Amino acid sequence: MQYDMTDFSKVLVSENDIGRKLDEMADAIRRDYEGQDLLLVGVLKGAVMVMADLARRMPPQVQMDWMAVSSYGSGTKSSGVVRILKDLDADLTGRHVLIVEDIIDSGVTLSWLLGNLRARGAASVEVAALLRKPKAAVVDVPVKYIGFDIPNDFVVGYGLDYAENYRTLPFVAILDPKVYEG
Ligand code: PRP
Ligand code: MN
Ligand code: MG
Repeated sequence: MQYDMTDFSKVLVSENDIGRKLDEMADAIRRDYEGQDLLLVGVLKGAVMVMADLARRMPPQVQMDWMAVSSYGSGTKSSGVVRILKDLDADLTGRHVLIVEDIIDSGVTLSWLLGNLRARGAASVEVAALLRKPKAAVVDVPVKYIGFDIPNDFVVGYGLDYAENYRTLPFVAILDPKVYEG
């Protein structure tokens, strides 16, 4: 697939970088949950790529469920408001839950989600996220499995969108400000 790269100022994380990092994260997750039940909870829509590629590295007894929450709308700034657009199908009582996220920016989505899922009687609730921005690194959001700490630029690709575009890219790139500035 050939991409028009003029919308991006830089490729931040290549397809190969992502694959290698997911290998490491999956190794750690398989070790930690060996012999235990595990439910991966993907946060739609951004986490679809991470979830698909991480889940492929898990044993077949590991299950997937999905939640859709939104805090961003169509802009590039967080509104701080979290809404449930689609709830889980699974009952979390007594289960080991691993939330799978593409990116933690302000940490608003994740801290809300952690509170929400922990209140459902799970045996444990942890987080795996591919990317984390500086703000979230200082906020108290406990992330057990992290891929990359990245700078504060607006990034797209590998599930991350700008106004619903760019999610299909196999890499993570910095969106050139000319795309969203008038
Ligand atoms: C993005 C991203 C995370 C969240 C992180 O989702 O996928 O879920 O924002 O931001 P925060 O740490 O500041 O809360 P978004 O709300 O844009 O929905 P989407 O996944 O459907 O794109
Ligand atoms: Mn999201
Ligand atoms: Mg988004």
